[in-house]
Amino acid sequence: MIPESFIQELLNRVDVIDVIDKSVPLKKAGSNYVACCPFHQEKSPSFTVSPSKQFYHCFGCGAHGSVLSFLIEYQGMSFVDAVEDLAKSVGLTVPQDSQKISPEVKEKNLALGEALELASQYYQSALKKSERAIEYLKKRGLTGQIAKTFQLGYAPEGWQNLESVFKKYDDEALNIAGLVLKNDQGKRYDRFRDRIMFPIHNMKGEIIGFGGRVINPEDTPKYYNSPETPLFQKSQELYGLFAARRAIREKGCVLVVEGYMDVVGLAQFGVMHAVATLGTATSAFHIKKLMRQTDTIIFCFDGDNAGKAAAWRAMINALPSLNDKVVLKFLFLPEEHDPDSFIRLHSKEAFESMMQDAMPLSQYLMQHLTEKNHLATQEDKVKFLNEAEPILKEITAPKLSLLLRKRFAELLHLNDKEIDQLLHVAQPQFQSNKAQFKTKGKLPSSVKRQFILLLILKPKLAISEDLVLAQTESFEDDLLKKVLEIALNQPESKPSSILHGLRSQVDNMVMDLVNEELTHFDDQIHFESEIEGARKTLLEQGKASKTKAHFSALKDKPLSSLTNEEKEHLKTLTQRPKTPPKT
Ligand code: UTP
Ligand code: MN
Repeated sequence: MIPESFIQELLNRVDVIDVIDKSVPLKKAGSNYVACCPFHQEKSPSFTVSPSKQFYHCFGCGAHGSVLSFLIEYQGMSFVDAVEDLAKSVGLTVPQDSQKISPEVKEKNLALGEALELASQYYQSALKKSERAIEYLKKRGLTGQIAKTFQLGYAPEGWQNLESVFKKYDDEALNIAGLVLKNDQGKRYDRFRDRIMFPIHNMKGEIIGFGGRVINPEDTPKYYNSPETPLFQKSQELYGLFAARRAIREKGCVLVVEGYMDVVGLAQFGVMHAVATLGTATSAFHIKKLMRQTDTIIFCFDGDNAGKAAAWRAMINALPSLNDKVVLKFLFLPEEHDPDSFIRLHSKEAFESMMQDAMPLSQYLMQHLTEKNHLATQEDKVKFLNEAEPILKEITAPKLSLLLRKRFAELLHLNDKEIDQLLHVAQPQFQSNKAQFKTKGKLPSSVKRQFILLLILKPKLAISEDLVLAQTESFEDDLLKKVLEIALNQPESKPSSILHGLRSQVDNMVMDLVNEELTHFDDQIHFESEIEGARKTLLEQGKASKTKAHFSALKDKPLSSLTNEEKEHLKTLTQRPKTPPKT
């Protein structure tokens, strides 16, 4: 582990502009720097790097992060490599113990990768020698060319075939990579036997695992996959993404399907922009990964009930990551079909025309919520609202959220105000208050959050008295406390360093919110007076809520039990303020 304090120090020393400019030449535009986004294809620059906030943000695809995430996402570096690289560039040395671990881990991962690569080469050559395996693939409509493109292979029958492939069959790497298993007597045997092998690649094109399909329909399980290893986390990988990258960019969209065979089967017919989850639900992580490649994600799941359930899960998991640029669509195949069987029975054209008709998110949502609910009675409408509410709460994309609320209102014959009252969905809005915030950028939804952002940008303006502003258990107060802790201890921290310090302490969703708000925050302001203004407003709000609490405590007591002093106090609290004359 690299100590957090080191990473924060590092982030304080490096300049995001210098680092990014080396890979993506930046142009100055006002107080920021811009370029065409390296994470998606575009003609006019929406990739913005802020020297004062020390992070980048793409208004096109939503790519966002610090100098470290840039090295990780763009250069494909591991976290440790990125830290080492940066440290070297500013003449710092990564603390000893982490240096001791990292080359070892590196070597181990390298050994795993090599073992998987060697095994894959063996499986590919074994496929060429097995008539049975070739026959099976042919029967499924696949040509040798497609098998080659996807590096398909065959793990022959027999318990220890890999013994002839590796110098040391008892090498630990084979075990960790999930290529071998141990029986009760401690004897090793091959994990994959008599199976068609689908290698799974990471974004660098390296093999990180396998899926193996039975040939004999009686064998179970139908697919057997590599276990989770240091290189392979199922919920984060997408089968076929590396191979599909170019097609996804060219088509401007990605198709998410359920199975290995769907990806390969579609490719056989020239549909190259499909990827599959690996037998797991589509996770928020998958969505973010895909959003870096394209704006349009089409889920194309099997027509059976499992496929329908998977689509709903995928949608729910996607909601928090959505922005107003992303388009999610849902395509439901006729029952009994998956993409592979459909395209084989019909044609590429038939499949593509179905894709054109994929249902947009809002329509899908509406259809699902009204499928078993005809909104005939008041109770039906209540049920609808109850189901819609948690979904709307997850959507932070402002336009989508607003339009959905409007649509729901129409459906229930309510006006906008009524629907907003019924659905307790926090809406991004600017509370007018005494602090004079500039209204140029999009503003955070509360003064406290504005205060937090101001402190992240100018930590040296924090004072220890600010701690009284964080007295409740709310997430905002929790965040404020943590920001203050860093700001008071290290007043010279850069924003990126504070954000990094927070990351390990607060919930991801809160972190996303802070990043989002910071992105839109106008930092060409007079910080001293903004902070002073916000502080004053918050103090007043705090006093007001204390008074309110005191008032409700007093008014709930029987009058006879009040002391004279309390009675006097109650009187002053209940007196209406004199209304000022209208001007
Ligand atoms: P499917 O059964 O739909 O697979 O499972 P498929 O790709 O269409 O395969 P064919 O056409 O029958 O050959 C979808 C995915 O679920 C995972 C695999 O990732 C598979 O591609 N799965 C399925 C498993 O991991 N294990 C299983 O036993 C079955
Ligand atoms: Mn199938």
